[in-house]
Amino acid sequence: MDQKKLPEGFLWGGATSDFQYEGGFNEGGRGILTHDYETNGSVKNPRHHTMQMPDGQIIEPKSSFITAEDVPLKAKPIFLSDQYYPSHQAVDFYHHYQEDIKLMADMGFNVFRFSICWSRIFPTGEEDKPNLAGLEFYDDVIDEMAKYQMQPLITICHDEMPMQLALKYDGWNNRRLIDYYLKYAKTLFERYGDRCKYWLTFNEINAVRGFGPTGVHRAQGQDRYQAAHHMFVASAKAVKLGHQIMPHSQFGAMYAMSEIYPITCKPADMFWRLQERQENWYFIDIMGRGYYPSYAATIWQRHQIQAPKMAVGDAEILREGQLDFISFSYYRSSTVKAGDPWFNVGGSSNPYLKETPWGWPLDPLGLRYCMNEIYDRIQKPLFVVENGLGAIDQPDENDYVTDDYRISYLRDHLSAMADAINLDHVPCLGYTMWGPIDLVSLSTGEMKKRYGLVYVDMDDLGQGSLKRTPKKSFNWFKKIIATNGAALADEI
Ligand code: BG6
Repeated sequence: MDQKKLPEGFLWGGATSDFQYEGGFNEGGRGILTHDYETNGSVKNPRHHTMQMPDGQIIEPKSSFITAEDVPLKAKPIFLSDQYYPSHQAVDFYHHYQEDIKLMADMGFNVFRFSICWSRIFPTGEEDKPNLAGLEFYDDVIDEMAKYQMQPLITICHDEMPMQLALKYDGWNNRRLIDYYLKYAKTLFERYGDRCKYWLTFNEINAVRGFGPTGVHRAQGQDRYQAAHHMFVASAKAVKLGHQIMPHSQFGAMYAMSEIYPITCKPADMFWRLQERQENWYFIDIMGRGYYPSYAATIWQRHQIQAPKMAVGDAEILREGQLDFISFSYYRSSTVKAGDPWFNVGGSSNPYLKETPWGWPLDPLGLRYCMNEIYDRIQKPLFVVENGLGAIDQPDENDYVTDDYRISYLRDHLSAMADAINLDHVPCLGYTMWGPIDLVSLSTGEMKKRYGLVYVDMDDLGQGSLKRTPKKSFNWFKKIIATNGAALADEI
């Protein structure tokens, strides 16, 4: 029975991001974010930023922000009346936070990962003083959580920035962003540091691509690696400052992990897999070990770029501002063959795995594999901060969803995680499943790709009552948390 039980003090909860969950985009003095001009979309019809050239011409999108949309430097964002912009309302946590936190508490969450909206605190990013109403909103959220002994895990920056920093400076491509980010991070540490121990400097930093997450107009090649370098330095400076202001604090940054398999055991496929892995290790090694690894030069050469420009003192700060723990998202694995494009998350298809309707392979053992690999390499505790199944739910007339498929997914992944912890001795601080209350999909902007344990009555165009209704998985997860994982063993 205790085979799956997790160590005492394990943190259980859920994770969200502000622009997918919060809404209230023009309330409480919030400024405009890069994601506010992003349309909804679908797998076939990628979401994009609505932008206009100085001569009034609307830019025709070629690809979605996630596959690195290029935005011409002179373009300005424009709201088009025939488009729907999901970040504006999202699922309105802004007005539902008390109800949502109570639902999370009912499931037994002792941690809730959420991101602070940068432009709610500094509307353009450039103000000297923060927006008080923005700070007060998160005070209310954290105090509400405290009523239920639920602690925050705060993502300082979840793939976003105030639009002005993107338009004026080309986002993270500009070194000045480090100072804007630090001013913002310091404000959060001073305001919430007495109530928050765990912090994430960035979300999925190894996925630095696209205008929305980076504010960089062409976040590829040289600009991508330069932007990443500025983010590494910003993260390290924030960790150092955070430790000074909040001696009890613990820092991670979040990585998009997917286990990567070679399609065959042909040495060329195996070697390709190793190199594809290094494209990700690059980020984790620099932030987790505090220095650029030797293979970084191979990566720059492969992408035909120069080493990113580094300032005097950067190497030292990377060493001083190393992360305390390694946190990551895991949804799926990928399979590669020699010659595949780099960072091709989709890769080749794996004949041994089933896929979701969005083409994401289902692979719980991949999670255990990843946990072992990361810990072997970095030797710091892990934190699984995103995992879950995006699925199309069919609510009955009372909005109740019988989501056995989600229960199976979570059961199998939690079970694999428990094996990594209990059998492979990988230390792990906690698990926050993605989107406990249904929210907007990042990649497609849809509502119908739902992860939640609680159904939200809202469709892809933002229509619906926003009523919250627990799904079948709600009580299931509650039982798993109540037994600290032990009940997983009953189901296998
Ligand atoms: C992670 C992001 O990439 O995956 C989340 O940190 C995102 O913001 C999640 O929502 C799931 O992706 P999607 O596209 O299904 O929402």
